[in-house]
Amino acid sequence: MRIFHLLPFLILMFLSFTTPSTSSTDSFIFGGCSQVKFLPGSDYENQVNSIFTSLANSAMFTSYNNFTSQGSSSQDTVYGLFQCRGDLNSGQCSRCVALAVSRLGTLCVNSAGGALQLDGCFIKYDNLTFLGVEDKTVVLKKCGPSTELTSDALTRRDAVLAYLGASTGSYKVSSSGNVYGVAQCTGDLSMSECQDCVSDAIQRLKTECGGANWGDMYLAKCYARYSEGGDHSHGGKDDDHNKNDEEIQKTLAILVGLIAGVALIIIFISFLSKVCRKHKEGK
Ligand SMILES: *[C@@H]1O[C@H](CO)[C@@H](O)[C@H](O)[C@H]1NC(C)=O
Ligand SMILES: *[C@@H]1O[C@H](CO)[C@@H](O)[C@H](O)[C@H]1NC(C)=O
Repeated sequence: MRIFHLLPFLILMFLSFTTPSTSSTDSFIFGGCSQVKFLPGSDYENQVNSIFTSLANSAMFTSYNNFTSQGSSSQDTVYGLFQCRGDLNSGQCSRCVALAVSRLGTLCVNSAGGALQLDGCFIKYDNLTFLGVEDKTVVLKKCGPSTELTSDALTRRDAVLAYLGASTGSYKVSSSGNVYGVAQCTGDLSMSECQDCVSDAIQRLKTECGGANWGDMYLAKCYARYSEGGDHSHGGKDDDHNKNDEEIQKTLAILVGLIAGVALIIIFISFLSKVCRKHKEGK
């Protein structure tokens, strides 16, 4: 029976469809490339590739790291870092960074520097020493529809933001009622630089998003976000796409499960009939 040969494959497929989905982690937030270009095939290109490889490899073991790739001349020295969201496990972190590296590679072809933020991780490379330098440049600001929060919710929003601003550590979460907030710095900032950066992001959220029911403020080295209902996925362009993917995956998983089930029944029946035949022959 042909189906026997298919069975291990089907079971494998089933397993791969039931592993946890990382769709919101993968959502694209922003990306940018420096205007300066390097020559294809140059030593500089080797250093960039070496940084990319280091980022992707290191993300299997830690949620933050920085790298320096020394070229033959000082101009060809490239720096890089990655930072995963504080709640990701090592598998999710390494998948996110691998995806970010591949996306940044296609986004910033031959660019001397570039940065990319997915929902779950941030990566950056450049030949300027940005490592350990606080940078509060606004990279992305997004606010929900204005004056959506009730005065009660607004009070909770401010409490959530105040808590984020006061807490130490590079990854901070807070909630009050149904208002949720999250803030994070890249791991190269000191505790006090991180707090200063997050305070700045929070201040901007309050003044620039007003009473909006959600807000995202991404500065170069930290971000702060809040939302009513805790859905932080409004920022990602890929969300609808990912939701569709999730639906398709679920449907496929059910389908594959059914096929595997039927295959098992067929095996069982053929086994039974063999046993029966043997039994008859034996008589
Ligand atoms: C960075 O790389 C570009 C392109 O190779 C080069 O023109 C520039 O001088 C470099 N900057 C530094 C600080 O090395
Ligand atoms: C960069 O990485 C090295 C080695 O992992 C570490 O000692 C150093 O503190 C890091 N620098 C920054 C700015 O994070």
